[in-house]
Amino acid sequence: MRLIILLGLFVVSCTAKTVRQDRRFPDDFIFGTATASYQIEGGWEADGKGENIWDYMTHNKPEVIKDMTNGDIAADTYNNYKRDVEMMRELGLDAYRFSLSWARLLPDGFTNNVNEAGVTFYNNYIDEMIKYNIQPMVTLYHWDLPQKLQELGGFVNPLFTDWFEDYARLAFERFGDRVKFWITFNEPREICYEGYGAATKAPILNATAVGTYLCAKNLVIAHAKAYHAYVKDFKPNQNGQCGITISVNWFGPATDSEEDHIMAELRRQAEWGLYAEPIFSQQGGFPKELSERVAEKSAKQGYASSRMPSFTDEERDLVRGSFDFFGVNHYTAFLASAAKEHKTYYPVPSLYDDSDSSTYTPDDWPKSASGWLKLAPNSIFDAFTFLRNKYGDIDFYVTENGWSTSPTAGLIDDDRVRYYRAALNSLLDAREAGVNIKGYMAWSLMDNFEWMEGITERFGLYEVDFEDPARSRTPRKSAFVYKHIIKNRYIDSDYKPESLTMTIDDGL
Ligand SMILES: *[C@@H]1O[C@H](CO)[C@@H](O)[C@H](O)[C@H]1NC(C)=O
Repeated sequence: MRLIILLGLFVVSCTAKTVRQDRRFPDDFIFGTATASYQIEGGWEADGKGENIWDYMTHNKPEVIKDMTNGDIAADTYNNYKRDVEMMRELGLDAYRFSLSWARLLPDGFTNNVNEAGVTFYNNYIDEMIKYNIQPMVTLYHWDLPQKLQELGGFVNPLFTDWFEDYARLAFERFGDRVKFWITFNEPREICYEGYGAATKAPILNATAVGTYLCAKNLVIAHAKAYHAYVKDFKPNQNGQCGITISVNWFGPATDSEEDHIMAELRRQAEWGLYAEPIFSQQGGFPKELSERVAEKSAKQGYASSRMPSFTDEERDLVRGSFDFFGVNHYTAFLASAAKEHKTYYPVPSLYDDSDSSTYTPDDWPKSASGWLKLAPNSIFDAFTFLRNKYGDIDFYVTENGWSTSPTAGLIDDDRVRYYRAALNSLLDAREAGVNIKGYMAWSLMDNFEWMEGITERFGLYEVDFEDPARSRTPRKSAFVYKHIIKNRYIDSDYKPESLTMTIDDGL
């Protein structure tokens, strides 16, 4: 009897091992990490850099940041970029996603005045990656608009679309010989809703009625202009790709009721459809049901026309299909519910009032250091299979995904390890269901300035000591687990690092 049980256990464990080995990431799957200029660089006025909207806001309204910190020094990548690349080598990354600071390159936002010291900084950073076979993936805009352009209206000035194209062309010209993967914008929702339609990101305009929609239209047109500039004038020689990154958390119905399904769809349109539909759908333009609601509500509220602008045919055609890939930042999921007890108050009028949607998350989903980020079951699978069914068999990348801990949580970050394993398992499920996800960027390489949360919330595979003037970086347990996954191309749930001492294994 005992023998049979033992034999049974042996068979089970062998099968489990085989299953794991089968669920491999192919060799050409791209593993990386991601960061953003304002969150890591520091050097806020070094060598001719101009002021951006985060410099301006944190210096003039420091109280909006939870701990009154700012990105003046941040992780001081401006002086530590070689150490950053050393960390990429330690992890064995295929690629590294980072963003360019527009005001470091163009202090006033316009191309008449190029800050060559800024160009040199990015040249050095890129060359250091290339030297070690790490592919640079560049985001042109990760939230740090030159303040001079904000004073002219920023994203709600229709001329913004040309300003952005000019800046994009400069980046393609200067860096496109080595950079083959371009992301125009990072997270339109966070730019347009949080920055213009609410007050939770710079420039904290809180123009709840129209801010989100005016910004959304100009943003997708600016994206399309940069995309077409690349395709026409750079791609023939440079052979790279250009796309956009949109935050797509999963919003499913809380129950199978029709009301909850309708609510979930409206919420998806408000969260990401507003930016994805004009670019990735066949028909182009803003999402149908949401546009109809905004038009109806606007009329009732006494507006002369809908608060959501429309596209001319020419604009619609310019934007539709302007992508080589769809970058997705994914962190968590929410349940959309029509039930009274989940009803949330939103300002009237505003995006979420327009979409009539309330969401919640179950208490038993494990929580991060952040209020909104929970470990939701299978959310990558749900989000990506939905996107594939909606927009077709296109190339996807997970351009951000990660977990936050408190500043005192230290180096043994088992909850982050659990999150990454669950996320990557869900990603493999989506790939097995036929979704073409070609790469994964963990957020983040290291702790950094977490926007309104300051340095009270940490996302790094490497801990950064913000008390140390040198901003020393130390790998957490999750760094070793991620390294093991990248090297072996599968997720070994039993793997435990023997020590927390890093080595570089690239033989270079
Ligand atoms: C934003 O505007 C809404 C609606 O006018 C208002 O209720 C809210 O307090 C404002 N928020 C901030 C941070 O100013």
